[in-house]
Amino acid sequence: MKNITVIGSGTMGNGIAHVFAQFGYSVNLVDISDAALQKALATIAKNIDRQVAKGTVTEADKTATLSNIKTFTKLEEGAKNADLVVEAASENVNVKLAIFKQLDEICPPHTILASNTSSISITQIAAVTKRADKVIGMHFMNPVPVMKLIEVIRGYSTSDEVCQLIMETSKKLNKIPTEVNDYPGFVANKILMPMINEAIITLYEGVAGVEEIDTVMKLGMAHPMGPLQLADFIGLDVCLNILRVLHDGFGNPKYAPCPLLVNMVTAGHLGVKSGKGFYDYSSGTKDLILADRFKKQNKSIVA
Ligand code: NAI
Repeated sequence: MKNITVIGSGTMGNGIAHVFAQFGYSVNLVDISDAALQKALATIAKNIDRQVAKGTVTEADKTATLSNIKTFTKLEEGAKNADLVVEAASENVNVKLAIFKQLDEICPPHTILASNTSSISITQIAAVTKRADKVIGMHFMNPVPVMKLIEVIRGYSTSDEVCQLIMETSKKLNKIPTEVNDYPGFVANKILMPMINEAIITLYEGVAGVEEIDTVMKLGMAHPMGPLQLADFIGLDVCLNILRVLHDGFGNPKYAPCPLLVNMVTAGHLGVKSGKGFYDYSSGTKDLILADRFKKQNKSIVA
């Protein structure tokens, strides 16, 4: 396992490329958007600068890590020599199925095809390829360079050998892999997303404002950040897509996304990545809290 292709260079893709490159793998980072690739390289450099400032890596490590990453806008060029592909494109089933179908044709027979999907069925993704035994979930956590866990998702047809190889590769990245089975949301998001959705419903019903909800969960439950801030950080579009997968997959109304979440995504308020979500990030930090606006809006809903 030497050549890694990472598909999608957004919030997760840049972190995944960063970590593989840091541990000496040769990384091809692929995105349909050249602007996204340039932004990813800038983000990786900035994040390594932070590690240098903390003393966990050196300037020489920074140069080595950056030199291990090449960028591509064409999937064929970026994936043809891959030993392992980690797909981190948008959380949309049709996008992922199209990518895996192409990968199956482009990549050599030995290539393992992994998805960083938060919730989409690995078994469904594997079914569009002719190598279902070599398709697996490799679910990194955000921010990838910092978070220890990789949720390794075994699809219905994933082989023991492939599962073992991905567990070992995860350990080489200094991560802690945990194997789970392939059902909607796996473990992480089957538990996390209903909590985030409930926090948004709590806001929508006017029970409390943004700051109050996050404070209760931070100080009362010892969570490092409140669920609304976490939703902004994950991306509200990503949260909505995951809730829809849970809702469709289990057919249970308890997973129905809150209408406020649907409205915010429709309005383009996606959280940190768009500059606005439950908080305002346009000044570069999380300040200017929108709690008042939500309170006003929610008074009318409650009335
Ligand atoms: P994002 O929206 O930040 O980035 C997605 C990137 O994929 C964009 O740069 C887009 O241009 C690119 N893309 C879309 N279609 C493509 C294609 N056909 N070929 C190549 N690139 C394509 O999304 P994010 O948040 O990085 O999520 C990526 C994946 O990681 C999703 O499956 C998501 O569920 C999962 N994930 C997200 C987490 C988060 O906290 N945001 C946490 C763990 C997993």
